Amino acid sequence: MKTIIEPFRIKVVEPLRMTTREQRERILREAAFNVFNIPARDVLIDLLTDSGTGAMSSLQWAGIMQGDESYAGAESFYRFQERLRELTGFEHILPTHQGRASERILFELVGGKGKVIPNNSHFDTTRANVEHSAAEAVDLPIPEARDPQAFHPFKGNMNVEALVELIERVGAECIPLCMVTVTDNTGGGQPVSLENLRAVRAVCDRYGIPLYLDACRFAENAYFIKLREPGQQGRAVRDIVRDMFDLADGATISAKKDGLVNIGGVLLIRDPALAQRADALLILTEGFVTYGGLAGRDLEAMAQGFEEVVHEDYLAYRIRSTEYLGEKLRTIGYQIVEPPGGHAIYVDAAHLAPHIPRHQFPGQALVCGLYRQGGIRACEIGSVFHGGRGATELVRLAIPRRVYTQSHIDYVVEASAALFECRHTLVGLRMTNDPPVLRHFTARFAEVR
Ligand code: F0G
Repeated sequence: MKTIIEPFRIKVVEPLRMTTREQRERILREAAFNVFNIPARDVLIDLLTDSGTGAMSSLQWAGIMQGDESYAGAESFYRFQERLRELTGFEHILPTHQGRASERILFELVGGKGKVIPNNSHFDTTRANVEHSAAEAVDLPIPEARDPQAFHPFKGNMNVEALVELIERVGAECIPLCMVTVTDNTGGGQPVSLENLRAVRAVCDRYGIPLYLDACRFAENAYFIKLREPGQQGRAVRDIVRDMFDLADGATISAKKDGLVNIGGVLLIRDPALAQRADALLILTEGFVTYGGLAGRDLEAMAQGFEEVVHEDYLAYRIRSTEYLGEKLRTIGYQIVEPPGGHAIYVDAAHLAPHIPRHQFPGQALVCGLYRQGGIRACEIGSVFHGGRGATELVRLAIPRRVYTQSHIDYVVEASAALFECRHTLVGLRMTNDPPVLRHFTARFAEVR
């Protein structure tokens, strides 16, 4: 069979609301050309993020009804803890309300002035939390990752030589931990190989530095390993996931991705002394250790979500449907980050609109173009997002998990084809306010006509 169907039936539906081009033109202006300001009811296909936007299964909804809302020692917590222990092998499992809460606790404990955190590629909230602690966040991707067109099966890999060079330069005592993001979101949703994780682990061991995973998309990463890494084909994804976590001393997880839930996060720490300090901060800022800022029902949904995400028919569909969108866009003439990532397709806006200079934000112009054309909401990962730090002008089309069918994606392809035909009419933007942190969320723009 060539067609990989959605491995589920639809039991509950949510209507979509159509808008006209004239309405979208007005909405875009009112939103100051920042799609984060557009009310979701005015979006037809929402590809802003794959985070917290997925559909839950019937078993997850059933779990919601079983949520034990006791303050301490809820049944739901024990089910959640058991599932995560089984999956990751970690003993100490802290629930948090989302990924960045785990990051904040972790970097409050290990960050601070003079500290340096290496990562293959920091996600924006991770970088912001590192920097908020006054530490320095350093990205060490492999050279291929800097070239959107370069093909590499594990383009998310960390540059191991650069890691050694960094440690030698700043001194191991300044590096409280080394982080690897699986999959590498900012770099195109690209996976990291087991071989690379082992090599990073070996360097960390040599210098006595703990290795942490930013494991938001651990299951997608493990599936890529199964597909692409020599010798991994016959293995169960569950076992590959376990191998990944076995290499780590800790992990931050946003369950809004591969936890298949709308809210939730996890912090894993092997070192008992550090874990105890994390517990104290968790209680101070999130909630008691058996609920961590969540309701019991959320823990139930997570327990089930972390089970379903390693089902291989789900992962085959997930990875294939993202690739499908990438192939179609490539055929139209878009340059995308190659090869297609796990959760999203990243389009090169600088290639699409060479008439828009970088200081006029070609990525943001394409985001506006997609909304105008088809009511599609995407996310700029270029000069707006990176604050001038990055080298690429990308637009991310992130696919929510289990939400859209192939015909929704075909609609996105048609709208993208129409937009491609009139790409020379895309207009640049000027920022009318420039917020100091995470500016892409709240920046406002005007068109340069
Ligand atoms: N790390 C990575 C790699 C992420 O992609 C995200 C979130 C986080 C950490 C933070 O998790 O949102 O639960 O606090 N990424 C979302 C995105 C927001 O759109 O890519 P969070």
